[in-house]
Amino acid sequence: DMAEKGGYPDFMLKEIHEQPRVVRDTLVGRMIGGELDIDELGLTYEELNLIDRVYVIACGTSYHAGLIAKNLIEMWARIPCEVEAASEFRYRNPIITPSTLVVAVSQSGETADTLAAIRDARIKGAKVFGITNVVGSPVARESDGVIYTKANKEIAVASTKSFIGQVVSLTLLSLLLAQVKGKLTTGQVRMLFRELGDTAEQIQWIFDTQAEAVHEAALACKDAHSALFVGRGMGAAIAHEGALKLKEISYLHAEAYAAGEMKHGPIALIDPGFPVIAVTTKSPTYDKTVSNLKECEARGAKIIVVATEGDEDIKQIADHVIYIPPVRDAFCPITATVPLQLLAREVAIMRDCDVDQPRNLAKSVTVE
Ligand code: G6P
Repeated sequence: DMAEKGGYPDFMLKEIHEQPRVVRDTLVGRMIGGELDIDELGLTYEELNLIDRVYVIACGTSYHAGLIAKNLIEMWARIPCEVEAASEFRYRNPIITPSTLVVAVSQSGETADTLAAIRDARIKGAKVFGITNVVGSPVARESDGVIYTKANKEIAVASTKSFIGQVVSLTLLSLLLAQVKGKLTTGQVRMLFRELGDTAEQIQWIFDTQAEAVHEAALACKDAHSALFVGRGMGAAIAHEGALKLKEISYLHAEAYAAGEMKHGPIALIDPGFPVIAVTTKSPTYDKTVSNLKECEARGAKIIVVATEGDEDIKQIADHVIYIPPVRDAFCPITATVPLQLLAREVAIMRDCDVDQPRNLAKSVTVE
């Protein structure tokens, strides 16, 4: 058992530590002769150039990867993009034309709702692109094109390394769309691709330097009844994944909110000691998020932040700071999610939970 876990106490920790490799492997062979290369694209550049609407459909953690993709696709490729739970998408009547691209994200490649959504979308004439971790899985077979996430088999029920592989893959797809649409030059794409690759070392830096900070933050959460995760933009997407991880494996109720929405409801929950976990990395909305945190602090919240290395000011307001290396906002999810995975795992262990096999959950959901 220990050998299978590579010397780690559980699969989740082993898989979290594989993430630098997942980033590297997902990028291998994707830049050839200075050009982005997606071998199983299945769509011509001409077809891609016609795309005028994107839906990302997925479930669970994969849905959160979709939230990040929406930001990237709209920012870089300037194509309107919506993210939707597959279980919702399939039961309404979304606007689909032959110039619609549906991006289906599924670690297992066999989630029932996601597959059904793919089938519906194709019948309605959409192009479908799959992002999956399992070669030859139904999602791969039933899509026009596919990117494999190269995470290798994931055993822990709560997804970690697959998520990172999905985000990296979706970043590649976003760059490709932007390039095909003429919104980014090949030079810009090359530069961004290089920076994307740097996130592998940045994740390693978190393992090497932030373990103690994560542990302290976990101690501050373990006896809570509920926790709130907040952020803006990319930070909001990361907050959603952080909250899901915590509730999945520690059974501690957690919710994620866009930081600006706090004052419209969730702030009523805050009383002394209530944990608020915030993504306050350097981004254009940094000051806004910090001012939302001040409102929480004034009500006695315990503030835990994921911040950019070198940001000393944040210590004035935060009780616990976990740092990540400076990174472009577009790539922040790849690194800033990692401390939240580690935090969820530590809290779960402190609460005596089985981190690899949480109650009531299945690794893949092949029935509706
Ligand atoms: C289950 C798993 C989650 C996963 C979700 C979607 O709920 O427990 O970890 O995110 O299914 O799975 P998929 O394989 O489609 O990504």
